[in-house]
Amino acid sequence: MSVKPQSRSVVGVLKISPMQRRHLRSVLAIEQQVYPRPWSATLFLSELSQRSTRSYTVGTVGPLVVGYAGLMVVGEEGHVNTLSVDPGWQRRGVATMLLADLARTAMKRGVRHLTLEVRAGNGPAQALYRKFGFGPVGLRRNYYSETGEDAVVMWVRDIDTQDYVERLAGLLRSLEPARGSRRDPKS
Ligand SMILES: CC(C)(COP(=O)(O)OP(=O)(O)OC[C@H]1O[C@@H](n2cnc3c(N)ncnc32)[C@H](O)[C@@H]1OP(=O)(O)O)[C@@H](O)C(=O)NCCC(=O)NCCS
Repeated sequence: MSVKPQSRSVVGVLKISPMQRRHLRSVLAIEQQVYPRPWSATLFLSELSQRSTRSYTVGTVGPLVVGYAGLMVVGEEGHVNTLSVDPGWQRRGVATMLLADLARTAMKRGVRHLTLEVRAGNGPAQALYRKFGFGPVGLRRNYYSETGEDAVVMWVRDIDTQDYVERLAGLLRSLEPARGSRRDPKS
């Protein structure tokens, strides 16, 4: 089934819900398009089974899975395990909505600081993470064995603050189509 995006932003049409086994076929299809070494179904199933320390979500538009995110909680630290968007749905705010939702879930679970690894050459993801306040703190050399690429380790600290709640709200507001502006043409 082909569902085409109707407008640039997915605000109002993207639904975020817990990832379930039935989503895995779509998740794996995205995984294979966006990573040189995609995760397997077995790995996702193992992650989904660890309910006390994990939270995996999917973003759907109608029947389509267009992106997904995964969080691991270790005490006061949350690790963003994955964040991926179908190439046909990128640059419409899907990752922003998934990551804001992940951060809110993390806060509810007592997380104060978030961290992640990102490919040194992955400028788009690093730009996204910077918007969420993540800053680089170091490199893990040859972290991605299949390509020998380094990982940049990024952290955002003190997400359990009003400032950070407002930052998330601002990021989500920025996705709302500006009615009547040139970004929302009528023809
Ligand atoms: C990185 C990724 C998750 C972003 O998803 P997305 O839904 O397109 O992101 P959003 O639309 O929410 O973009 C938010 C911001 O991120 C940055 N960004 C996203 N894609 C970008 C790109 N191709 N080039 C530059 N900046 C980009 C921009 O700052 C963007 O804001 P803007 O559109 O107002 O300029 C997506 O490109 C992806 O799945 N990539 C492959 C998998 C991956 O690398 N995941 C991260 C692993 S650590």
